[in-house]
Amino acid sequence: MAFLSDSLARVKPSPTIAVTTKAAELKAAGRDVIGLGAGEPDFDTPDNIKDAAKRAIDTGKTKYTPPDGIPELKQAIVDKFARENALTYTPGQISVGTGGKQVLYNALIATLNPGDEVLIPAPYWVSYPDMVLLGGGEPKIVETGIETGFKMTPGMLEDAITPKTKWLIFNSPSNPSGAGYSAAELKGLTDVLMRHPHVWLMTDDMYEHIAYAPFEFATPAQIEPRLFERTLTVNGVSKAYAMTGWRIGYAGGPEELIGAMRKIQSQSTSNPCSISQWAAVEALNGPQDFIRENCETFRRRRDLVVSMLNAIDGIECPVPNGAFYVYPSIAGLIGKTSAGGVLIEDDEAFATALLEETGVAVVFGAAFGLSPNFRVSYATSDTALKEACGRIQAFCDGMR
Ligand SMILES: Cc1ncc(COP(=O)(O)O)c(C=O)c1O
Repeated sequence: MAFLSDSLARVKPSPTIAVTTKAAELKAAGRDVIGLGAGEPDFDTPDNIKDAAKRAIDTGKTKYTPPDGIPELKQAIVDKFARENALTYTPGQISVGTGGKQVLYNALIATLNPGDEVLIPAPYWVSYPDMVLLGGGEPKIVETGIETGFKMTPGMLEDAITPKTKWLIFNSPSNPSGAGYSAAELKGLTDVLMRHPHVWLMTDDMYEHIAYAPFEFATPAQIEPRLFERTLTVNGVSKAYAMTGWRIGYAGGPEELIGAMRKIQSQSTSNPCSISQWAAVEALNGPQDFIRENCETFRRRRDLVVSMLNAIDGIECPVPNGAFYVYPSIAGLIGKTSAGGVLIEDDEAFATALLEETGVAVVFGAAFGLSPNFRVSYATSDTALKEACGRIQAFCDGMR
């Protein structure tokens, strides 16, 4: 009898964590490493949010809570969905979890049966396919490309749907490409979903607030209200409020699904951290101005990185309209050899040689299901970004 589960054998450890670990090892060995791998804002959590957490501790809000969130946070989420997304949820249609990651995971575990297919446009956030596999389902990757701005077209979606399709996992703006779907592009996709009533939509809106004008964020159920009954709208406080370590994510969806997710949470983590929940109440109800200011900083960094990378021979870097990542293509460098003697046969070889030879840590595209590319997170200082892009330029210029 095998000790480890069959479902565990189907998944791999997170490749983004592997890159971060390797970078940390080199740093510990005294190397000058610039990490462009982390998927988190470099800003500090705002003081009003920290103060709300301190108050929660001081007033004894340190006990178990209802499994999927305190009423005050559910109400703040209901208000947020109404205010920002024109979506009308009731508190019974809200689930709060330990990060958006747990919310997505709960939804998949709660609904997947063997053979169920889940459509995932590539490039995708690394965890989607593995979460589907852990849930016993089959990830079906819909490959996009630089030609469509890394976006799935209605035709691609239509072709990928089968009678076994249970979910489409949708993410805009996207990690890793930063691609954001306009309202018109969303309508094209929701029209396809309207023709296939057995397909549910899990929309991961985690980067909603990191969106650069003229692009405007929209969520699918807002564009097509008839999809509301089979949509799970997932969001969280990690990215917009610089709260990655607090671990609060949430979703709105039909009551039956939310109840099923609650059941799983009650038998796994019991509830998200009580103190973090009170901090999230303040995040959602408190001042929102700093979001726009942070977004402006990210836009400046995006422009800096895009222009520096596009100046390099062999690299093509589309301009993303959201999130804090760029996803350049290195098609023009495949087959070359680095100054350190490494044959750049794929994007993993590129990222590995880049780290070893220049100390710049990026994540290779294969980790996100679309090659040959790499992901840069520009959620770091302008100085570090300039230095890193300079090193990438020297690395590429040094290839034969
Ligand atoms: C696309 C996407 N979805 C979900 C998450 C999960 O965020 P959290 O669990 O911190 O809420 C992340 C984090 O990197 C992400 O990039």
